[in-house]
Amino acid sequence: MMRFAFWQVAREYALQGLEADDAGALSLLHREDFVRPWSEDEFATMIADRTVIGFAARQTGHGREPPVGFILARRAAGEGEILTVAVSRAHRRQGIGWQLMDAVLRQLHAERAEALFLEVDETNTAAIALYKRLGFATVGRRPNYYPSASGTASAALVMRRDLR
Ligand SMILES: CC(C)(COP(=O)(O)OP(=O)(O)OC[C@H]1O[C@@H](n2cnc3c(N)ncnc32)[C@H](O)[C@@H]1OP(=O)(O)O)[C@@H](O)C(=O)NCCC(=O)NCCS
Repeated sequence: MMRFAFWQVAREYALQGLEADDAGALSLLHREDFVRPWSEDEFATMIADRTVIGFAARQTGHGREPPVGFILARRAAGEGEILTVAVSRAHRRQGIGWQLMDAVLRQLHAERAEALFLEVDETNTAAIALYKRLGFATVGRRPNYYPSASGTASAALVMRRDLR
């Protein structure tokens, strides 16, 4: 009788700062989920910007792998703002989004920032669930903010997390 063995290899990830040569991979990842994807040049400009904080999540143990998730945030006038955060579909629900957000929160806290803000499509239940678990509260709503492929627009929620 034939027997089949099934096993699952636990994936391990590590967070690192973003580097200039990540721009192309970030642009491809961003394209997976956003109606208006940012170009490689736009990512290169953000990575080089000293007001921008960025982290990448990579699988460990295979040399320097392309990012499976990343986050970019900007700091200005004692506050932070998430520019974008994304995790590749194949790597979701394993805590990577949480770790990326936590890394930005910790860095801003260490820099004594007062608060972290973000905007999120009010139909994006996954991201909103993550942000609520991290202590973000809704402080505003911008109607007709995000265009969709179908031509309709959805509202943005403005969320804030206190860092003091
Ligand atoms: C939002 C996103 C970054 C979350 O990344 P992730 O690595 O899958 O998130 P995590 O595994 O860290 O999830 C942490 C918690 O967030 C919540 N959450 C995440 N995805 C969820 C989903 N699809 N449905 C419900 N809750 C979800 C859960 O509470 C989860 O904890 P749990 O898995 O123990 O239940 C990811 O879904 C993504 O890249 N989406 C597309 C891009 C995007 O929408 N970015 C945000 C733009 S503002």
